[in-house]
Amino acid sequence: MSRIKIFDTTLRDGEQSPGVNLNKLEKLEIAKQLERLGVDRIEAGFPASSKGEFEAVKEIADTIETTSVIALARTVKSDIDAAWEALKGAKKPAIHMFLATSPIHMEYKLRKTPEEVIETSVEMVRYAKRKFTEVQWSAEDASRSDLNFLAKIIEKVIDAGATVVNLPDTVGYATPEEYGKMFKYMKDNVPNIDQVSLSCHCHDDLGMAVANSIAAVENGATQVEGAINGIGERAGNAALEEVAVALKVRSDFYPYETRLVLNEIKRTSDLVAKLTGMHVQANKAIVGRNAFSHESGIHQDGVLKNVETYEIITPAMVGVQEANTLFLGKHSGRHAFKEKIQEFGVELSDTELQQAFKKFKALTDHNKEVTDDDIYTIIMEIKTDS
Ligand code: KIV
Ligand code: ZN
Repeated sequence: MSRIKIFDTTLRDGEQSPGVNLNKLEKLEIAKQLERLGVDRIEAGFPASSKGEFEAVKEIADTIETTSVIALARTVKSDIDAAWEALKGAKKPAIHMFLATSPIHMEYKLRKTPEEVIETSVEMVRYAKRKFTEVQWSAEDASRSDLNFLAKIIEKVIDAGATVVNLPDTVGYATPEEYGKMFKYMKDNVPNIDQVSLSCHCHDDLGMAVANSIAAVENGATQVEGAINGIGERAGNAALEEVAVALKVRSDFYPYETRLVLNEIKRTSDLVAKLTGMHVQANKAIVGRNAFSHESGIHQDGVLKNVETYEIITPAMVGVQEANTLFLGKHSGRHAFKEKIQEFGVELSDTELQQAFKKFKALTDHNKEVTDDDIYTIIMEIKTDS
């Protein structure tokens, strides 16, 4: 099994979600939980962006014990200096610099020629190397860049001392096959590529961030970047819990493993949702309220006989303590209903059960969900009548 590193950017790209603004203590709480989750890198923020952000990154850097703490910087000296000032107390400091390489970004946003982009990147990687041992350089909008140009600039930043090269799908435009091919191209065409770790960073604009990340891994990426619950700019980043669980559950197919403590996932997801105010949709993979619930009568009957009929992940694997596996609604059948009654420890005769089931079905015509209280009321009515 090859080891895949997990670079968590919940506190940087994740915090760039519209409407999210974490204070220093909230960021610190999340960072500590990320360390318990076992991520390899915590991107704590962008120190040059504000005084508050600088303080928060510094606090995290001074507190986190074993995980590498990384900070974002543009390829300018003042950003690199700010990152160093914030991170110098960290046990394992690292810097993450980025500069765009796509024609549209270079021409309209940066107003730089491709040669100038190479020159700035090389110069700033060298500058950062005076302070940092670990220097990650990102080719912003890599997936819309010219592959030859990308190969050329990557070779030069590696020579300048970069230790990680990241190829982001900044606007969530790539498809898995295409994104994977970009990594393969760099593996095949950049002569010094094996001196660095290759990283992927995917956005979810077309809903392909997790699939794209896995395609990158299959083509040579050894680091996956993303955020808990998939939060981030616009449609968000790759959801790290989905990447890690997919690699684990399909380890029959993928020979890769992460170091994540999977049963810390739910706790981390809950904390991030609470502190960011970004609630997780009910049907979200791995951490959504319905991720382990079954409503259809046929499915409920199946899981009661053998849970693997409809469940590929055990709730316990990802730290879901009380799995609400049987969701009683209009699609539920007699078997699940009977199971629910048994949870109350109440004995019903066959006739009583029949009556109770009829009342329950009548209730589902009006209510989307029938709660435990509703069931209990039905049982009590039946018991009082008989
Ligand atoms: O999406 C992106 O390109 C980024 C960079 C800063 C790496 O977040
Ligand atoms: Zn991003």
